[in-house]
Amino acid sequence: MAPGGESVPPPRLRRGRLALRPTQPEDCAFVLAVERDPDNARYVGQWTAARHRACMDGAGWVHAVIEEAGEPVGYVVLQDADDPDGNLLLRRIALARKGGGRGRAALILIMRYCFEVLGFHRLWLYVAEHNKRALRLYLGLGFVMEGTARECAVEGGQRYSMHVLSLLEGEYRLRLATARHRRVQL
Ligand SMILES: CC(C)(COP(=O)(O)OP(=O)(O)OC[C@H]1O[C@@H](n2cnc3c(N)ncnc32)[C@H](O)[C@@H]1OP(=O)(O)O)[C@@H](O)C(=O)NCCC(=O)NCCS
Repeated sequence: MAPGGESVPPPRLRRGRLALRPTQPEDCAFVLAVERDPDNARYVGQWTAARHRACMDGAGWVHAVIEEAGEPVGYVVLQDADDPDGNLLLRRIALARKGGGRGRAALILIMRYCFEVLGFHRLWLYVAEHNKRALRLYLGLGFVMEGTARECAVEGGQRYSMHVLSLLEGEYRLRLATARHRRVQL
Protein backbone atom coordinates (compact mmCIF):
# COMPACT_ATOMS: atom_id res chain seq x y z
CA MET A 1 0.00 0.00 0.00
CA ALA A 2 1.28 3.48 -0.80
CA PRO A 3 1.48 5.96 2.10
CA GLY A 4 -1.77 7.88 2.49
CA GLY A 5 -3.72 5.31 0.47
CA GLU A 6 -7.47 4.95 0.84
CA SER A 7 -7.76 2.20 3.44
CA VAL A 8 -5.34 1.07 6.12
CA PRO A 9 -4.80 -2.72 6.08
CA PRO A 10 -5.56 -4.32 9.46
CA PRO A 11 -2.58 -5.39 11.59
CA ARG A 12 -2.63 -9.18 11.19
CA LEU A 13 0.89 -10.59 11.43
CA ARG A 14 2.51 -13.56 13.09
CA ARG A 15 6.08 -14.39 14.09
CA GLY A 16 6.53 -17.69 15.88
CA ARG A 17 4.35 -17.71 19.00
CA LEU A 18 3.69 -13.97 18.80
CA ALA A 19 0.95 -12.31 16.73
CA LEU A 20 -0.69 -8.94 16.17
CA ARG A 21 -4.41 -8.65 15.58
CA PRO A 22 -6.84 -5.72 15.57
CA THR A 23 -8.17 -4.83 19.05
CA GLN A 24 -11.89 -5.48 19.50
CA PRO A 25 -14.19 -3.49 21.82
CA GLU A 26 -14.37 -6.55 24.11
CA ASP A 27 -10.56 -6.32 24.59
CA CYS A 28 -10.99 -2.94 26.34
CA ALA A 29 -10.89 -4.37 29.88
CA PHE A 30 -7.61 -6.16 29.09
CA VAL A 31 -6.09 -3.04 27.49
CA LEU A 32 -7.02 -0.87 30.50
CA ALA A 33 -5.68 -3.44 32.95
CA VAL A 34 -2.32 -3.51 31.13
CA GLU A 35 -2.20 0.28 30.90
CA ARG A 36 -2.98 0.74 34.59
CA ASP A 37 -0.46 -1.87 35.79
CA PRO A 38 1.93 0.24 37.91
CA ASP A 39 4.93 -1.14 35.97
CA ASN A 40 3.41 0.30 32.77
CA ALA A 41 1.59 3.37 34.12
CA ARG A 42 5.00 4.94 34.86
CA TYR A 43 5.76 4.97 31.16
CA VAL A 44 2.50 5.18 29.20
CA GLY A 45 -0.33 7.74 29.36
CA GLN A 46 -3.62 6.76 30.96
CA TRP A 47 -6.56 6.78 28.58
CA THR A 48 -10.25 6.10 29.18
CA ALA A 49 -12.02 3.13 27.59
CA ALA A 50 -13.86 5.64 25.37
CA ARG A 51 -10.56 7.05 24.07
CA HIS A 52 -9.28 3.56 23.27
CA ARG A 53 -12.55 2.66 21.51
CA ALA A 54 -12.38 5.85 19.46
CA CYS A 55 -8.87 4.82 18.37
CA MET A 56 -10.02 1.39 17.26
CA ASP A 57 -11.95 2.80 14.33
CA GLY A 58 -10.54 6.32 14.09
CA ALA A 59 -9.02 7.37 10.76
CA GLY A 60 -5.26 6.89 10.77
CA TRP A 61 -5.24 4.99 14.06
CA VAL A 62 -4.25 1.33 14.41
CA HIS A 63 -5.03 -0.38 17.70
CA ALA A 64 -3.74 -3.95 18.02
CA VAL A 65 -3.52 -6.67 20.63
CA ILE A 66 -0.23 -8.56 20.97
CA GLU A 67 -0.88 -12.26 21.47
CA GLU A 68 1.41 -15.05 22.55
CA ALA A 69 0.22 -18.55 21.71
CA GLY A 70 -3.28 -17.13 21.28
CA GLU A 71 -3.34 -15.31 24.66
CA PRO A 72 -3.29 -11.49 24.86
CA VAL A 73 -0.01 -10.27 26.39
CA GLY A 74 -0.07 -6.60 25.45
CA TYR A 75 -1.28 -3.95 23.07
CA VAL A 76 0.03 -1.34 20.69
CA VAL A 77 -1.37 1.94 19.36
CA LEU A 78 -0.08 3.38 16.10
CA GLN A 79 -0.93 6.85 14.85
CA ASP A 80 -0.89 8.53 11.41
CA ALA A 81 -1.28 5.32 9.42
CA ASP A 82 -2.82 7.56 6.74
CA ASP A 83 0.11 9.99 6.64
CA PRO A 84 0.82 10.81 2.97
CA ASP A 85 4.51 11.32 3.82
CA GLY A 86 4.79 7.79 5.22
CA ASN A 87 5.64 8.53 8.86
CA LEU A 88 4.07 6.11 11.34
CA LEU A 89 4.06 7.07 15.01
CA LEU A 90 4.38 4.23 17.51
CA ARG A 91 2.17 6.00 20.02
CA ARG A 92 2.08 3.30 22.66
CA ILE A 93 3.25 -0.23 23.43
CA ALA A 94 2.73 -1.99 26.74
CA LEU A 95 3.07 -5.61 27.75
CA ALA A 96 1.49 -7.50 30.62
CA ARG A 97 4.17 -10.19 30.36
CA LYS A 98 7.61 -8.71 29.87
CA GLY A 99 11.06 -10.05 29.24
CA GLY A 100 12.47 -12.99 27.33
CA GLY A 101 12.51 -10.94 24.13
CA ARG A 102 8.71 -10.47 23.98
CA GLY A 103 9.01 -6.71 23.46
CA ARG A 104 11.65 -7.25 20.80
CA ALA A 105 9.51 -9.78 18.93
CA ALA A 106 6.46 -7.49 19.14
CA LEU A 107 8.44 -4.52 17.84
CA ILE A 108 9.71 -6.58 14.89
CA LEU A 109 6.06 -7.30 13.98
CA ILE A 110 5.31 -3.56 14.18
CA MET A 111 8.34 -2.83 11.96
CA ARG A 112 7.08 -5.39 9.44
CA TYR A 113 3.64 -3.85 9.52
CA CYS A 114 5.03 -0.35 9.00
CA PHE A 115 7.49 -1.10 6.20
CA GLU A 116 6.15 -4.22 4.49
CA VAL A 117 2.37 -3.89 4.89
CA LEU A 118 1.84 -0.11 4.90
CA GLY A 119 4.88 0.57 2.70
CA PHE A 120 5.81 3.49 4.97
CA HIS A 121 9.15 5.28 5.12
CA ARG A 122 9.72 6.06 8.79
CA LEU A 123 8.65 4.55 12.09
CA TRP A 124 9.12 6.93 14.99
CA LEU A 125 8.34 7.38 18.65
CA TYR A 126 8.90 9.31 21.84
CA VAL A 127 10.48 7.61 24.83
CA ALA A 128 10.97 9.04 28.32
CA GLU A 129 14.64 9.57 29.14
CA HIS A 130 14.36 7.36 32.26
CA ASN A 131 12.69 4.43 30.42
CA LYS A 132 15.93 2.46 30.10
CA ARG A 133 14.28 -0.84 29.18
CA ALA A 134 12.34 0.65 26.25
CA LEU A 135 15.37 2.68 25.12
CA ARG A 136 17.50 -0.44 25.06
CA LEU A 137 14.83 -2.23 23.05
CA TYR A 138 14.59 0.51 20.40
CA LEU A 139 18.33 1.12 20.07
CA GLY A 140 18.94 -2.64 19.93
CA LEU A 141 16.67 -2.88 16.88
CA GLY A 142 18.45 -0.09 15.04
CA PHE A 143 16.35 2.95 15.95
CA VAL A 144 18.36 6.16 15.80
CA MET A 145 18.11 8.97 18.33
CA GLU A 146 16.93 12.10 16.48
CA GLY A 147 16.95 14.47 19.41
CA THR A 148 15.47 15.28 22.77
CA ALA A 149 12.37 17.28 23.59
CA ARG A 150 13.79 18.83 26.76
CA GLU A 151 11.66 18.79 29.92
CA CYS A 152 8.54 18.53 27.79
CA ALA A 153 6.58 16.20 30.08
CA VAL A 154 5.40 16.42 33.68
CA GLU A 155 4.43 13.72 36.12
CA GLY A 156 3.79 14.12 39.82
CA GLY A 157 5.09 17.68 39.59
CA GLN A 158 8.42 16.46 38.13
CA ARG A 159 9.53 17.51 34.64
CA TYR A 160 11.39 15.11 32.39
CA SER A 161 12.63 14.95 28.80
CA MET A 162 11.52 12.70 25.95
CA HIS A 163 13.87 11.34 23.29
CA VAL A 164 12.68 11.11 19.68
CA LEU A 165 13.82 7.93 17.93
CA SER A 166 13.16 6.66 14.43
CA LEU A 167 13.88 3.83 12.04
CA LEU A 168 13.86 4.40 8.27
CA GLU A 169 12.75 1.86 5.70
CA GLY A 170 16.27 1.59 4.23
CA GLU A 171 17.73 0.87 7.68
CA TYR A 172 15.08 -1.79 8.27
CA ARG A 173 15.75 -3.44 4.88
CA LEU A 174 19.50 -3.42 5.47
CA ARG A 175 19.01 -5.05 8.86
CA LEU A 176 16.75 -7.66 7.31
CA ALA A 177 19.24 -8.41 4.52
CA THR A 178 22.11 -8.69 7.02
CA ALA A 179 20.11 -11.09 9.19
CA ARG A 180 19.24 -13.20 6.13
CA HIS A 181 22.89 -13.23 5.02
CA ARG A 182 23.87 -14.51 8.46
CA ARG A 183 20.98 -16.99 8.31
CA VAL A 184 19.50 -15.65 11.52
CA GLN A 185 16.06 -14.23 12.27
CA LEU A 186 15.81 -10.48 12.63
C1 LIG B 1 9.12 -1.66 26.75
C2 LIG B 1 8.58 -3.08 26.67
C3 LIG B 1 7.51 -3.16 25.58
C4 LIG B 1 9.75 -4.01 26.30
O1 LIG B 1 9.29 -5.35 26.34
P1 LIG B 1 10.17 -6.48 27.11
O2 LIG B 1 9.49 -7.80 26.91
O3 LIG B 1 10.40 -6.01 28.49
O4 LIG B 1 11.50 -6.39 26.25
P2 LIG B 1 12.58 -7.52 25.87
O5 LIG B 1 12.49 -8.72 26.75
O6 LIG B 1 12.44 -7.73 24.40
O7 LIG B 1 13.93 -6.75 26.23
C5 LIG B 1 14.31 -5.56 25.61
C6 LIG B 1 15.69 -5.15 26.06
O8 LIG B 1 15.61 -4.47 27.34
C7 LIG B 1 16.59 -5.05 28.23
N1 LIG B 1 16.07 -4.84 29.58
C8 LIG B 1 15.20 -5.58 30.27
N2 LIG B 1 14.96 -5.03 31.48
C9 LIG B 1 15.70 -3.90 31.54
C10 LIG B 1 15.90 -2.87 32.50
N3 LIG B 1 15.25 -2.89 33.66
N4 LIG B 1 16.76 -1.84 32.19
C11 LIG B 1 17.40 -1.78 31.01
N5 LIG B 1 17.26 -2.74 30.05
C12 LIG B 1 16.43 -3.79 30.32
C13 LIG B 1 16.68 -6.49 27.77
O9 LIG B 1 17.88 -7.10 28.24
C14 LIG B 1 16.65 -6.32 26.26
O10 LIG B 1 17.90 -5.89 25.76
P3 LIG B 1 18.86 -6.91 24.97
O11 LIG B 1 17.99 -7.46 23.82
O12 LIG B 1 19.95 -6.03 24.48
O13 LIG B 1 19.24 -7.95 25.96
C15 LIG B 1 7.96 -3.56 28.02
O14 LIG B 1 8.99 -3.65 28.98
C16 LIG B 1 6.85 -2.68 28.56
O15 LIG B 1 5.67 -2.93 28.31
N6 LIG B 1 7.26 -1.64 29.34
C17 LIG B 1 6.29 -0.73 29.99
C18 LIG B 1 5.63 0.21 28.98
C19 LIG B 1 6.66 0.96 28.18
O16 LIG B 1 7.68 1.39 28.69
N7 LIG B 1 6.35 1.19 26.89
C20 LIG B 1 7.21 1.93 25.98
C21 LIG B 1 6.90 3.37 26.02
S1 LIG B 1 7.96 4.26 24.88
